[in-house]
Amino acid sequence: MLIDTSRTANLDKTMPYLIDKIEVSPSSGNYDILIGSNWLQDSASALASKILMDNVLIITNPVVGDLYAESLIKGLRQIGCSHIIRHDIPDGEHSKNINEYNRAQEALALNFPDPASVPVVIALGGGVVGDISGFVAGTFRRGITCIQVPTTLLACVDSSVGGKTGINFANIKNLLGVFHQPQMVVIDLATLHTLEKRQLCSGMAEVVKYGVVCNRQLFEFVEAHTEALLDIDPNAMAKVVGDCCRIKASVVREDERDTGGRRIVLNFGHTLGHAIESASDYRLLHGEAIAIGMLAATDLAIALNLCDKEVKLRIEKLLRKLQLPVEINGRDLQIESIMKTMRHDKKFSSGENKFVLPTKLGTWQTAQGIAESLIHKILSAYL
Ligand SMILES: NC(=O)c1ccc[n+]([C@@H]2O[C@H](COP(=O)([O-])OP(=O)(O)OC[C@H]3O[C@@H](n4cnc5c(N)ncnc54)[C@H](O)[C@@H]3O)[C@@H](O)[C@H]2O)c1
Ligand SMILES: [Zn+2]
Repeated sequence: MLIDTSRTANLDKTMPYLIDKIEVSPSSGNYDILIGSNWLQDSASALASKILMDNVLIITNPVVGDLYAESLIKGLRQIGCSHIIRHDIPDGEHSKNINEYNRAQEALALNFPDPASVPVVIALGGGVVGDISGFVAGTFRRGITCIQVPTTLLACVDSSVGGKTGINFANIKNLLGVFHQPQMVVIDLATLHTLEKRQLCSGMAEVVKYGVVCNRQLFEFVEAHTEALLDIDPNAMAKVVGDCCRIKASVVREDERDTGGRRIVLNFGHTLGHAIESASDYRLLHGEAIAIGMLAATDLAIALNLCDKEVKLRIEKLLRKLQLPVEINGRDLQIESIMKTMRHDKKFSSGENKFVLPTKLGTWQTAQGIAESLIHKILSAYL
């Protein structure tokens, strides 16, 4: 396999290659994020060099599994993996539930009953597969090895890194879960080619989020390479995914368990975005709602004299170029239902709202207890 870590070379788009390696070092133990292209089959040897892998449960869904499980299994067989089971959960957010959690635990218990040969869980899919797989692995026999193989852009830049796992329960998103860091994250950028364009653009909203609050150069790179990114050019995409993973890794190192430290920065656009996503009854994809949430949060920053109008104009222009929505208009959403959902958000500590707001491109601060009337006024402009 060609190894290129310069991140600038013009690489043959059909050759398997490893492009980048990022170390994540939370207090619970270090692990690597490996970013490559066309290398799903070859990635097994990278896994085997770090992790004992005789027994494997691959958790996936029918869409992703039918596309990619075969090459992964081929690679695992080549490294001598003797017992591999593929376990599918149905496609979609509604599968992040207790029944699918039970079914996956049963698959582990029935296929790998010997306590002396504990299996490894490989999560092959987007954030839904990743979240439930991590929770299953984090609780089977009090925690077994989980490897994340994210196949959506959102999962590559966000959900596969950082160890937050879980399922929805009692109609509440992510109510049950544990922190369980993966032992490795294996990203194959070529898998993004089969992703629906709308899902790809939705993932780009998270990339913009990292750029706006954490890294101005990343924001400017996305501005300058929008078309290449939407075409999934491996060089441009590797740079962006690598930068996002580096930011997420540094945030996780400082505030692994999201206990009031730096991890809050990842909430930029999410306080209002989550409320919009949920009030739309998930007709808006996560990133689409976050796009609007980021704009509204920037409006708040401007209203509080924390940020210049030019910043908002640049964010809005970039979101449009990325084919993301910049208003809610026409989506039959009631402002009251957004406000109500927002009040119930876990980010509201003891009833007081708390927002991450951009100050300039690449810097941020928090603002607490913002008047509801101001939030209402700003949101109204998007309806
Ligand atoms: N754990 C975390 O830190 C964290 C962070 C952010 C989001 N999340 C969670 O992530 C979930 C959303 O993840 P998502 O946006 O990846 O959605 P998803 O997992 O539902 O994937 C989106 C769609 O793309 C399909 N798909 C995935 N990869 C594909 C590929 N390569 N080719 C073709 N189709 C493909 C899936 O089958 C699905 O239909 C939510 O449940 C959210 O709560 C978790
Ligand atoms: Zn998000």
